[in-house]
Amino acid sequence: MRPTPVLSVQGLAKRFTLHLRGGQVLPVLQDVSLQVGAGECVALVGASGQGKSTLIKCLHGSYGIDAGQAWLQSEAGAVDLAQATPQQVLALRRREIACVSQFLRVLPRVSTLGLVVERALQAQPAPAASADDGDDLAQRTARARLAAGALLQRLNLPEPLWGLPPATFSGGEQQRVNIARGFIAPARLLLLDEPTASLDAANRRVVIGLIDEAKAAGTAIVGIFHDEEVRDAVATRCVNLVAPIVEPA
Ligand SMILES: Nc1ncnc2c1ncn2[C@@H]1O[C@H](COP(=O)(O)OP(=O)(O)OP(=O)(O)O)[C@@H](O)[C@H]1O
Ligand SMILES: [Mg+2]
Repeated sequence: MRPTPVLSVQGLAKRFTLHLRGGQVLPVLQDVSLQVGAGECVALVGASGQGKSTLIKCLHGSYGIDAGQAWLQSEAGAVDLAQATPQQVLALRRREIACVSQFLRVLPRVSTLGLVVERALQAQPAPAASADDGDDLAQRTARARLAAGALLQRLNLPEPLWGLPPATFSGGEQQRVNIARGFIAPARLLLLDEPTASLDAANRRVVIGLIDEAKAAGTAIVGIFHDEEVRDAVATRCVNLVAPIVEPA
């Protein structure tokens, strides 16, 4: 018997209603179905504007899903992301769904190292309340700082930048901070929207290595990789999104 996929999307639809354009409706995704098992990396392909990023945002809970289902086998059982409450989505994002988008959106004024450490701590299970909580937190923070530093080093982010907030970093530097936050903690589902778009060849290879390790750890991955070399290296399967048929008004 085949194991239950980590993510099972059936008949998903998403449309945008442009209220400032007289209510014009853009039907972007229609009847999208895909399944992703543990350790698989499914690459979304399709022309520009076809809805690849929209699908990633639907699965990350940034956009609501208009129709269909998206079942995630979470730690607490199966959750339909199409029906999940904002609280459920936030809890899943803390522990089980990680996302690397093309753009870095983080709290301003927090250092780069702090942002990666924060993500590492957030993904850990809450410790049982006990008298030595303070010590435990100090130890967990120290371990997270070591892991975050090692990952930033692996991504060739110069150490003098680690203490600075990434707002003024170059595109490729910001993207590597994003990647570090996406990969610092194990995830059940990892969503990647062009994670190597601004990277040089050496850093692209680092990201390929990180994706391979996540697959080996059993993470289910849905990704968009415009770079064919990266896609060929990491994708176990490609899913082609096709444009919905728009009926004339
Ligand atoms: N928030 C939004 N409001 C209105 N329309 C949107 C919104 N987000 C996306 N769209 C539209 O949905 C369509 C799909 O966009 P999306 O960004 O998902 O495409 P894509 O396949 O990721 O393209 P690319 O390969 O260029 O990144 C586009 O026509 C876009 O204009
Ligand atoms: Mg896109």
